[in-house]
Amino acid sequence: MVRHRRRIGLAVGGCATALALWWAKPVDRAQSEAAQLSPVDRQYFASLAKLVQASPSGALPCAVIDLTRLDANLAKARAALSADQRLRIVVKSLPSIGLIRYLLVRSGSRELMVFHAPQVPLLLRELADLGSVDILLGKPAPAASAEQVLTQLPEAAQRVSWLIDDAQRLRAYREVARKSGLRLRISIELDVGLHRGGVRTEAELLELLDEIAASPSELTLSGFMGYDGHVPHAPGWNKRQAIQQALVAVQTRYRQFYDAAKAHAPQWFATAKDAPRLAFNSGGSKTLPLYAGLPTVVNDLAMGSGLVRPAHFSDEALADFVPALWLAVPVLKKQVAPPLPFLDGLWGLFRFWDPNLAVGFFLYGGTWDAPIVYPLGLRPGPYNDGPIRNLLPNQQLLTGSQHVLAEVGSVVLLHPREADNFAALSDLYAIRGEHIEARWQPLSPLN
Ligand SMILES: Cc1ncc(COP(=O)(O)O)c(C=O)c1O
Repeated sequence: MVRHRRRIGLAVGGCATALALWWAKPVDRAQSEAAQLSPVDRQYFASLAKLVQASPSGALPCAVIDLTRLDANLAKARAALSADQRLRIVVKSLPSIGLIRYLLVRSGSRELMVFHAPQVPLLLRELADLGSVDILLGKPAPAASAEQVLTQLPEAAQRVSWLIDDAQRLRAYREVARKSGLRLRISIELDVGLHRGGVRTEAELLELLDEIAASPSELTLSGFMGYDGHVPHAPGWNKRQAIQQALVAVQTRYRQFYDAAKAHAPQWFATAKDAPRLAFNSGGSKTLPLYAGLPTVVNDLAMGSGLVRPAHFSDEALADFVPALWLAVPVLKKQVAPPLPFLDGLWGLFRFWDPNLAVGFFLYGGTWDAPIVYPLGLRPGPYNDGPIRNLLPNQQLLTGSQHVLAEVGSVVLLHPREADNFAALSDLYAIRGEHIEARWQPLSPLN
Protein backbone atom coordinates (compact mmCIF):
# COMPACT_ATOMS: atom_id res chain seq x y z
CA MET A 1 0.00 0.00 0.00
CA VAL A 2 2.81 2.40 1.04
CA ARG A 3 4.83 1.43 -2.00
CA HIS A 4 1.80 1.97 -4.19
CA ARG A 5 1.28 5.44 -2.72
CA ARG A 6 4.92 6.29 -3.26
CA ARG A 7 4.64 5.21 -6.90
CA ILE A 8 1.59 7.40 -7.39
CA GLY A 9 3.40 10.27 -5.67
CA LEU A 10 6.42 9.84 -7.95
CA ALA A 11 4.23 9.68 -11.04
CA VAL A 12 2.32 12.81 -10.05
CA GLY A 13 5.59 14.60 -9.21
CA GLY A 14 7.10 13.53 -12.53
CA CYS A 15 4.03 14.71 -14.45
CA ALA A 16 4.02 18.04 -12.58
CA THR A 17 7.73 18.57 -13.34
CA ALA A 18 7.26 17.70 -17.00
CA LEU A 19 4.26 20.02 -17.15
CA ALA A 20 6.22 22.84 -15.47
CA LEU A 21 9.15 22.34 -17.86
CA TRP A 22 6.81 22.32 -20.83
CA TRP A 23 5.07 25.45 -19.52
CA ALA A 24 8.37 27.23 -18.91
CA LYS A 25 9.90 26.10 -22.20
CA PRO A 26 11.29 29.26 -23.86
CA VAL A 27 9.72 30.32 -27.12
CA ASP A 28 11.82 30.78 -30.22
CA ARG A 29 12.88 34.42 -29.80
CA ALA A 30 13.66 34.97 -33.46
CA GLN A 31 10.00 34.29 -34.19
CA SER A 32 8.42 36.00 -31.17
CA GLU A 33 10.48 39.17 -31.62
CA ALA A 34 9.64 39.22 -35.34
CA ALA A 35 5.97 39.27 -34.39
CA GLN A 36 6.56 42.25 -32.06
CA LEU A 37 8.59 44.43 -34.41
CA SER A 38 6.73 46.48 -37.00
CA PRO A 39 7.52 45.69 -40.66
CA VAL A 40 8.78 49.28 -41.06
CA ASP A 41 11.30 48.87 -38.22
CA ARG A 42 12.34 45.46 -39.48
CA GLN A 43 12.97 46.89 -42.93
CA TYR A 44 14.85 49.84 -41.37
CA PHE A 45 17.25 47.63 -39.42
CA ALA A 46 17.71 45.16 -42.26
CA SER A 47 18.73 47.86 -44.72
CA LEU A 48 20.92 49.58 -42.10
CA ALA A 49 22.77 46.32 -41.47
CA LYS A 50 23.21 45.79 -45.21
CA LEU A 51 24.54 49.30 -45.68
CA VAL A 52 27.11 48.88 -42.91
CA GLN A 53 28.13 45.48 -44.18
CA ALA A 54 29.00 47.06 -47.51
CA SER A 55 30.86 50.00 -45.92
CA PRO A 56 34.65 50.32 -46.07
CA SER A 57 34.97 49.02 -42.50
CA GLY A 58 32.08 46.55 -42.78
CA ALA A 59 34.31 43.76 -41.58
CA LEU A 60 35.14 45.60 -38.35
CA PRO A 61 32.98 47.05 -35.57
CA CYS A 62 31.87 50.62 -36.16
CA ALA A 63 29.14 53.06 -35.11
CA VAL A 64 26.34 54.39 -37.28
CA ILE A 65 24.46 57.61 -36.88
CA ASP A 66 21.21 58.16 -38.73
CA LEU A 67 21.24 61.79 -39.90
CA THR A 68 17.53 61.90 -40.73
CA ARG A 69 16.72 60.90 -37.17
CA LEU A 70 19.40 63.17 -35.74
CA ASP A 71 17.92 66.13 -37.65
CA ALA A 72 14.46 65.33 -36.28
CA ASN A 73 15.81 65.24 -32.70
CA LEU A 74 17.73 68.46 -33.19
CA ALA A 75 14.60 70.18 -34.49
CA LYS A 76 12.69 69.02 -31.40
CA ALA A 77 15.38 70.29 -29.05
CA ARG A 78 15.40 73.68 -30.77
CA ALA A 79 11.62 73.89 -30.76
CA ALA A 80 11.64 73.64 -26.95
CA LEU A 81 13.78 76.79 -26.64
CA SER A 82 12.51 80.36 -26.59
CA ALA A 83 13.94 83.05 -28.89
CA ASP A 84 16.50 84.22 -26.33
CA GLN A 85 17.64 80.75 -25.28
CA ARG A 86 20.62 79.10 -26.96
CA LEU A 87 21.34 75.44 -27.47
CA ARG A 88 24.73 74.27 -26.20
CA ILE A 89 26.00 70.95 -27.59
CA VAL A 90 27.64 68.64 -25.03
CA VAL A 91 30.89 67.38 -26.58
CA LYS A 92 31.48 64.76 -23.85
CA SER A 93 28.37 62.88 -24.99
CA LEU A 94 28.95 63.24 -28.75
CA PRO A 95 32.73 63.03 -28.94
CA SER A 96 33.48 63.40 -32.64
CA ILE A 97 34.58 66.58 -34.41
CA GLY A 98 32.67 65.56 -37.54
CA LEU A 99 29.47 65.04 -35.58
CA ILE A 100 29.90 68.26 -33.58
CA ARG A 101 30.54 70.23 -36.77
CA TYR A 102 27.43 68.74 -38.34
CA LEU A 103 25.31 69.73 -35.33
CA LEU A 104 26.69 73.28 -35.20
CA VAL A 105 26.12 73.85 -38.91
CA ARG A 106 22.67 72.30 -38.85
CA SER A 107 21.45 74.10 -35.72
CA GLY A 108 23.23 77.44 -36.12
CA SER A 109 24.43 77.06 -32.52
CA ARG A 110 28.03 78.01 -31.80
CA GLU A 111 27.91 76.94 -28.16
CA LEU A 112 29.74 73.87 -26.89
CA MET A 113 30.14 72.30 -23.47
CA VAL A 114 33.46 70.53 -22.94
CA PHE A 115 34.53 68.35 -20.01
CA HIS A 116 38.15 67.66 -20.91
CA ALA A 117 40.27 70.83 -21.26
CA PRO A 118 42.89 69.30 -23.62
CA GLN A 119 40.13 69.03 -26.24
CA VAL A 120 39.68 72.82 -26.29
CA PRO A 121 42.55 73.78 -28.67
CA LEU A 122 41.66 70.93 -31.01
CA LEU A 123 38.00 71.96 -31.17
CA LEU A 124 38.80 75.65 -31.66
CA ARG A 125 41.28 74.92 -34.43
CA GLU A 126 39.15 72.34 -36.23
CA LEU A 127 36.01 74.46 -36.05
CA ALA A 128 37.68 77.84 -36.68
CA ASP A 129 35.95 78.22 -40.06
CA LEU A 130 32.54 78.27 -38.34
CA GLY A 131 33.20 81.63 -36.68
CA SER A 132 33.25 82.33 -32.98
CA VAL A 133 32.63 79.04 -31.24
CA ASP A 134 31.95 79.53 -27.53
CA ILE A 135 33.09 76.85 -25.09
CA LEU A 136 31.83 76.42 -21.54
CA LEU A 137 33.59 73.92 -19.30
CA GLY A 138 31.05 71.47 -17.88
CA LYS A 139 33.20 70.62 -14.88
CA PRO A 140 35.93 72.67 -13.24
CA ALA A 141 39.24 71.97 -14.99
CA PRO A 142 42.42 71.92 -12.88
CA ALA A 143 44.06 75.36 -13.26
CA ALA A 144 47.22 73.68 -14.60
CA SER A 145 45.31 72.19 -17.53
CA ALA A 146 43.74 75.60 -18.26
CA GLU A 147 47.26 77.03 -18.30
CA GLN A 148 48.36 74.40 -20.82
CA VAL A 149 45.43 75.23 -23.08
CA LEU A 150 46.27 78.94 -22.97
CA THR A 151 49.94 78.30 -23.66
CA GLN A 152 49.05 76.22 -26.70
CA LEU A 153 46.40 78.60 -27.97
CA PRO A 154 46.25 82.06 -26.31
CA GLU A 155 43.17 82.97 -28.42
CA ALA A 156 41.26 80.40 -26.38
CA ALA A 157 41.00 83.07 -23.65
CA GLN A 158 38.29 84.86 -25.64
CA ARG A 159 36.42 81.70 -26.55
CA VAL A 160 36.33 79.72 -23.32
CA SER A 161 34.37 80.19 -20.10
CA TRP A 162 36.23 78.45 -17.29
CA LEU A 163 33.97 76.90 -14.69
CA ILE A 164 34.73 78.02 -11.15
CA ASP A 165 33.20 76.29 -8.16
CA ASP A 166 34.89 78.02 -5.23
CA ALA A 167 37.22 80.84 -4.14
CA GLN A 168 40.33 78.67 -4.06
CA ARG A 169 39.94 77.66 -7.69
CA LEU A 170 39.18 81.25 -8.67
CA ARG A 171 42.47 82.39 -7.15
CA ALA A 172 44.35 79.62 -8.96
CA TYR A 173 42.84 80.83 -12.23
CA ARG A 174 43.71 84.44 -11.41
CA GLU A 175 47.32 83.27 -11.08
CA VAL A 176 47.10 81.60 -14.50
CA ALA A 177 45.76 84.89 -15.91
CA ARG A 178 48.60 86.86 -14.33
CA LYS A 179 51.25 84.52 -15.67
CA SER A 180 49.83 84.40 -19.18
CA GLY A 181 48.86 88.07 -19.37
CA LEU A 182 45.42 87.00 -20.61
CA ARG A 183 42.01 87.95 -19.25
CA LEU A 184 40.00 84.81 -18.43
CA ARG A 185 36.24 84.47 -18.75
CA ILE A 186 34.72 82.97 -15.64
CA SER A 187 31.45 81.08 -15.28
CA ILE A 188 30.41 80.43 -11.70
CA GLU A 189 28.96 77.03 -10.87
CA LEU A 190 25.72 77.25 -8.89
CA ASP A 191 24.38 74.42 -6.80
CA VAL A 192 20.72 74.45 -7.74
CA GLY A 193 19.94 71.13 -6.06
CA LEU A 194 22.27 68.54 -7.60
CA HIS A 195 24.85 69.02 -4.81
CA ARG A 196 27.71 68.04 -7.09
CA GLY A 197 29.61 71.25 -6.50
CA GLY A 198 29.45 74.99 -6.93
CA VAL A 199 28.31 77.80 -4.65
CA ARG A 200 25.49 76.93 -2.30
CA THR A 201 24.65 80.35 -0.88
CA GLU A 202 24.18 83.86 -2.19
CA ALA A 203 26.97 85.02 0.14
CA GLU A 204 29.46 82.64 -1.53
CA LEU A 205 28.36 83.83 -4.96
CA LEU A 206 28.74 87.52 -4.08
CA GLU A 207 32.17 86.85 -2.64
CA LEU A 208 33.28 85.33 -5.95
CA LEU A 209 31.76 88.22 -7.88
CA ASP A 210 33.71 90.67 -5.71
CA GLU A 211 36.93 88.78 -6.37
CA ILE A 212 36.32 88.86 -10.10
CA ALA A 213 35.47 92.58 -9.99
CA ALA A 214 38.67 93.26 -8.01
CA SER A 215 40.84 91.81 -10.82
CA PRO A 216 39.44 93.40 -13.98
CA SER A 217 42.62 92.87 -16.01
CA GLU A 218 42.72 89.18 -15.19
CA LEU A 219 39.12 88.07 -14.85
CA THR A 220 35.70 88.80 -16.25
CA LEU A 221 32.33 87.22 -15.59
CA SER A 222 30.79 85.23 -18.46
CA GLY A 223 27.82 83.68 -16.68
CA PHE A 224 26.61 80.92 -14.38
CA MET A 225 26.20 77.18 -14.76
CA GLY A 226 23.67 75.39 -12.57
CA TYR A 227 23.14 71.83 -13.76
CA ASP A 228 19.77 70.26 -13.01
CA GLY A 229 20.97 66.63 -13.34
CA HIS A 230 19.03 65.52 -10.24
CA VAL A 231 15.64 66.56 -11.64
CA PRO A 232 14.92 63.39 -13.71
CA HIS A 233 15.42 61.35 -10.53
CA ALA A 234 12.87 63.23 -8.40
CA PRO A 235 11.02 60.68 -6.26
CA GLY A 236 7.22 60.57 -6.07
CA TRP A 237 4.17 58.45 -6.80
CA ASN A 238 3.38 60.71 -9.69
CA LYS A 239 6.77 60.77 -11.40
CA ARG A 240 5.88 63.35 -14.02
CA GLN A 241 4.60 65.77 -11.38
CA ALA A 242 7.61 65.17 -9.12
CA ILE A 243 9.97 65.97 -11.99
CA GLN A 244 8.04 69.10 -12.92
CA GLN A 245 8.12 70.31 -9.30
CA ALA A 246 11.84 69.65 -9.01
CA LEU A 247 12.43 71.55 -12.24
CA VAL A 248 10.43 74.54 -10.99
CA ALA A 249 12.41 74.44 -7.71
CA VAL A 250 15.62 74.64 -9.77
CA GLN A 251 14.31 77.74 -11.58
CA THR A 252 13.38 79.37 -8.27
CA ARG A 253 16.84 78.73 -6.82
CA TYR A 254 18.53 79.89 -10.03
CA ARG A 255 16.52 83.12 -10.00
CA GLN A 256 17.45 83.77 -6.34
CA PHE A 257 21.13 83.55 -7.24
CA TYR A 258 20.55 85.69 -10.33
CA ASP A 259 18.62 88.40 -8.46
CA ALA A 260 21.20 88.56 -5.67
CA ALA A 261 24.06 88.87 -8.18
CA LYS A 262 22.27 91.50 -10.24
CA ALA A 263 21.48 93.62 -7.19
CA HIS A 264 25.05 93.32 -5.90
CA ALA A 265 26.98 93.77 -9.17
CA PRO A 266 24.65 95.39 -11.73
CA GLN A 267 27.60 96.24 -14.00
CA TRP A 268 27.72 92.60 -15.17
CA PHE A 269 24.06 92.63 -16.10
CA ALA A 270 24.09 95.65 -18.45
CA THR A 271 21.46 95.32 -21.11
CA ALA A 272 23.09 97.62 -23.67
CA LYS A 273 23.16 96.10 -27.14
CA ASP A 274 26.95 95.88 -27.30
CA ALA A 275 27.33 94.54 -23.73
CA PRO A 276 28.70 91.00 -23.62
CA ARG A 277 25.93 88.45 -23.18
CA LEU A 278 26.10 86.47 -19.96
CA ALA A 279 25.25 82.77 -20.37
CA PHE A 280 23.01 81.35 -17.66
CA ASN A 281 23.37 77.67 -18.38
CA SER A 282 21.38 74.71 -17.17
CA GLY A 283 19.56 71.71 -18.58
CA GLY A 284 20.60 68.44 -20.13
CA SER A 285 19.01 65.88 -22.37
CA LYS A 286 16.54 64.68 -19.78
CA THR A 287 15.22 68.13 -18.92
CA LEU A 288 15.71 70.38 -21.95
CA PRO A 289 12.37 69.46 -23.56
CA LEU A 290 10.64 70.36 -20.27
CA TYR A 291 11.89 73.95 -20.46
CA ALA A 292 9.39 74.76 -23.23
CA GLY A 293 7.33 77.66 -21.92
CA LEU A 294 8.87 77.47 -18.42
CA PRO A 295 9.45 80.84 -16.67
CA THR A 296 13.21 80.97 -16.06
CA VAL A 297 16.32 83.11 -16.17
CA VAL A 298 18.18 80.27 -17.91
CA ASN A 299 19.14 81.41 -21.40
CA ASP A 300 21.57 78.65 -22.35
CA LEU A 301 20.56 74.96 -22.40
CA ALA A 302 22.83 72.00 -22.87
CA MET A 303 22.05 68.82 -24.73
CA GLY A 304 24.20 65.98 -25.97
CA SER A 305 23.02 62.39 -25.52
CA GLY A 306 19.34 63.07 -26.22
CA LEU A 307 20.17 64.10 -29.77
CA VAL A 308 20.92 60.45 -30.54
CA ARG A 309 18.74 59.00 -27.77
CA PRO A 310 20.75 56.04 -26.48
CA ALA A 311 19.13 53.21 -24.52
CA HIS A 312 19.56 54.85 -21.10
CA PHE A 313 17.60 57.87 -22.29
CA SER A 314 14.13 56.40 -22.43
CA ASP A 315 12.73 59.10 -20.11
CA GLU A 316 9.29 60.46 -20.82
CA ALA A 317 10.75 63.92 -21.44
CA LEU A 318 12.45 62.44 -24.51
CA ALA A 319 9.43 60.49 -25.73
CA ASP A 320 9.37 62.46 -29.00
CA PHE A 321 13.06 61.79 -29.68
CA VAL A 322 14.12 58.77 -31.72
CA PRO A 323 17.18 56.54 -31.36
CA ALA A 324 19.72 57.64 -33.96
CA LEU A 325 22.89 55.84 -32.97
CA TRP A 326 23.77 52.17 -33.38
CA LEU A 327 26.83 50.06 -32.84
CA ALA A 328 27.44 47.66 -35.71
CA VAL A 329 29.42 44.54 -34.91
CA PRO A 330 30.21 41.81 -37.45
CA VAL A 331 29.66 38.12 -36.81
CA LEU A 332 33.08 36.49 -36.80
CA LYS A 333 32.05 32.84 -36.48
CA LYS A 334 28.89 30.81 -36.51
CA GLN A 335 28.59 27.40 -34.84
CA VAL A 336 25.56 25.14 -34.99
CA ALA A 337 25.02 23.43 -31.63
CA PRO A 338 28.00 25.13 -30.00
CA PRO A 339 29.61 22.96 -27.32
CA LEU A 340 30.42 24.49 -23.95
CA PRO A 341 33.50 23.55 -21.95
CA PHE A 342 32.67 21.25 -18.98
CA LEU A 343 29.00 21.13 -20.01
CA ASP A 344 29.28 19.37 -23.34
CA GLY A 345 26.92 16.48 -22.59
CA LEU A 346 24.49 18.31 -20.34
CA TRP A 347 24.37 21.25 -22.69
CA GLY A 348 22.50 19.17 -25.28
CA LEU A 349 19.64 18.81 -22.82
CA PHE A 350 19.40 22.55 -22.29
CA ARG A 351 19.45 23.02 -26.03
CA PHE A 352 16.66 20.51 -26.44
CA TRP A 353 14.60 22.53 -23.97
CA ASP A 354 15.58 26.03 -25.17
CA PRO A 355 15.54 26.54 -28.97
CA ASN A 356 17.44 29.82 -28.50
CA LEU A 357 20.62 27.91 -27.68
CA ALA A 358 20.69 26.12 -31.03
CA VAL A 359 23.23 28.33 -32.77
CA GLY A 360 26.25 30.27 -31.47
CA PHE A 361 27.38 33.52 -33.06
CA PHE A 362 30.76 34.91 -32.06
CA LEU A 363 30.98 38.66 -32.45
CA TYR A 364 34.08 40.59 -33.37
CA GLY A 365 35.17 41.98 -29.99
CA GLY A 366 33.31 42.29 -26.73
CA THR A 367 31.96 42.48 -24.23
CA TRP A 368 29.20 44.45 -25.90
CA ASP A 369 27.02 45.54 -23.03
CA ALA A 370 24.13 46.97 -25.03
CA PRO A 371 20.67 45.79 -26.12
CA ILE A 372 20.76 43.88 -29.40
CA VAL A 373 18.21 45.24 -31.86
CA TYR A 374 19.02 43.26 -35.02
CA PRO A 375 18.98 40.48 -36.16
CA LEU A 376 16.05 39.41 -34.04
CA GLY A 377 16.32 36.63 -31.50
CA LEU A 378 19.95 37.04 -30.44
CA ARG A 379 20.97 37.10 -26.80
CA PRO A 380 24.30 37.11 -24.96
CA GLY A 381 25.47 33.55 -24.50
CA PRO A 382 25.70 31.89 -21.09
CA TYR A 383 29.24 33.10 -20.50
CA ASN A 384 28.21 36.71 -20.74
CA ASP A 385 25.02 36.46 -18.73
CA GLY A 386 26.21 34.16 -15.99
CA PRO A 387 28.54 34.59 -13.06
CA ILE A 388 31.62 34.08 -15.25
CA ARG A 389 31.49 37.38 -17.06
CA ASN A 390 33.98 38.41 -19.65
CA LEU A 391 35.30 34.93 -20.44
CA LEU A 392 35.33 35.73 -24.16
CA PRO A 393 36.02 39.47 -24.15
CA ASN A 394 37.52 39.55 -27.63
CA GLN A 395 34.84 37.43 -29.33
CA GLN A 396 31.57 37.61 -27.47
CA LEU A 397 29.24 34.65 -27.84
CA LEU A 398 25.59 35.26 -28.70
CA THR A 399 23.09 32.47 -29.13
CA GLY A 400 19.87 32.17 -31.04
CA SER A 401 17.53 29.71 -32.72
CA GLN A 402 17.90 28.32 -36.21
CA HIS A 403 15.63 31.12 -37.39
CA VAL A 404 18.09 33.91 -36.57
CA LEU A 405 19.03 35.64 -39.83
CA ALA A 406 22.77 35.97 -39.36
CA GLU A 407 25.80 34.49 -41.08
CA VAL A 408 29.54 34.98 -40.79
CA GLY A 409 30.17 38.56 -41.90
CA SER A 410 26.66 39.84 -41.25
CA VAL A 411 26.24 42.79 -38.95
CA VAL A 412 24.65 42.77 -35.50
CA LEU A 413 23.17 46.11 -34.49
CA LEU A 414 23.23 47.19 -30.86
CA HIS A 415 21.57 50.16 -29.21
CA PRO A 416 24.29 51.73 -27.03
CA ARG A 417 23.31 52.59 -23.48
CA GLU A 418 25.21 55.89 -23.54
CA ALA A 419 25.90 58.10 -26.54
CA ASP A 420 29.64 58.23 -25.95
CA ASN A 421 29.94 54.42 -26.21
CA PHE A 422 31.01 54.89 -29.82
CA ALA A 423 34.23 56.54 -28.61
CA ALA A 424 35.80 53.08 -28.33
CA LEU A 425 35.41 52.47 -32.08
CA SER A 426 37.50 53.83 -34.90
CA ASP A 427 34.73 54.81 -37.33
CA LEU A 428 31.42 56.60 -37.07
CA TYR A 429 29.37 56.42 -40.27
CA ALA A 430 26.81 59.13 -40.85
CA ILE A 431 24.04 57.69 -42.99
CA ARG A 432 21.00 59.21 -44.61
CA GLY A 433 18.43 56.85 -46.03
CA GLU A 434 20.32 54.22 -48.00
CA HIS A 435 23.54 56.19 -48.33
CA ILE A 436 26.65 56.83 -46.29
CA GLU A 437 27.00 60.61 -46.18
CA ALA A 438 30.16 60.92 -44.09
CA ARG A 439 32.75 58.94 -42.20
CA TRP A 440 33.82 60.52 -38.92
CA GLN A 441 36.29 59.59 -36.20
CA PRO A 442 35.67 59.75 -32.45
CA LEU A 443 37.64 62.09 -30.21
CA SER A 444 39.86 60.84 -27.43
CA PRO A 445 37.64 59.08 -24.88
CA LEU A 446 39.28 60.90 -21.97
CA ASN A 447 36.39 63.05 -20.89
C1 LIG B 1 27.03 70.24 -16.57
C2 LIG B 1 26.27 69.32 -17.46
N1 LIG B 1 25.38 69.84 -18.32
C3 LIG B 1 24.69 69.07 -19.15
C4 LIG B 1 24.85 67.70 -19.16
C5 LIG B 1 23.97 66.88 -20.06
O1 LIG B 1 24.59 66.06 -20.96
P1 LIG B 1 23.65 65.10 -21.82
O2 LIG B 1 22.70 65.96 -22.55
O3 LIG B 1 24.58 64.37 -22.71
O4 LIG B 1 22.96 64.21 -20.86
C6 LIG B 1 25.74 67.11 -18.26
C7 LIG B 1 25.93 65.64 -18.23
O5 LIG B 1 26.72 65.10 -17.53
C8 LIG B 1 26.47 67.93 -17.39
O6 LIG B 1 27.33 67.42 -16.49
